[in-house]
Amino acid sequence: MLILLAVFEILNHNDNMKKLAFAAAIMALALTACGQNKKEMKTLVAYFSATGTTEAVAKDLAKAAGATLYEIKPEVKYTDADLDWRDKQSRSSIEMQDKSSRPAIVKDLKDADSYDLIYIGFPVWWYTAPTIINTFIEAYGFKGKTVRFFATSGGSDLAKADKQFQEQYPEINWKPGKLLNGATPEDLAAWVKAK
Ligand SMILES: Cc1cc2nc3c(=O)[nH]c(=O)nc-3n(C[C@H](O)[C@H](O)[C@H](O)COP(=O)(O)O)c2cc1C
Repeated sequence: MLILLAVFEILNHNDNMKKLAFAAAIMALALTACGQNKKEMKTLVAYFSATGTTEAVAKDLAKAAGATLYEIKPEVKYTDADLDWRDKQSRSSIEMQDKSSRPAIVKDLKDADSYDLIYIGFPVWWYTAPTIINTFIEAYGFKGKTVRFFATSGGSDLAKADKQFQEQYPEINWKPGKLLNGATPEDLAAWVKAK
């Protein structure tokens, strides 16, 4: 504002061409600075989904939040046999029994650091997040960022995941998780707004 007032002063009291050009240059600079202040808030919706349920919700959520949609992809896809929770020797059972397991992901998220708000979605496995979510968080850090997480499940809630994330990654500003089983676009819009 002060810069603009100074420019008008110059224009009012002096019609010397050089000063006019100088004033125009300052005005252009001031306008550029104003534009930079209006930087858009960038939001990411990153999700892992083994059988498509979380993916469907993630797509609707990205629309509701005006966010970039990103799939967390395992290097090796989960087969039906891998997902058999009744089989103690299945891949998912073995991974979930070992808290330090970090299934490899395709690391192709661009400009991870440019997002102001990150939503992370997953199916509940054994009452918490699949360990591939740990791989994702540790791959990109998200230090000091606000992260909201969501999940689909067969009925389990997110109390265990809430506690676990806070303990494992205290450097992230975690918001309480939200179970989005059967969420409608209206539900999603309301959650996005609730911030
Ligand atoms: C290995 C495995 C473990 C699961 N554990 C739970 C659980 O503890 N509680 C629950 O409510 N649902 C559990 N489920 C069901 C999934 O959370 C549910 O079907 C989810 O919506 C699947 O999402 P997706 O299609 O995005 O993979 C489990 C599913 C699998 C494959």
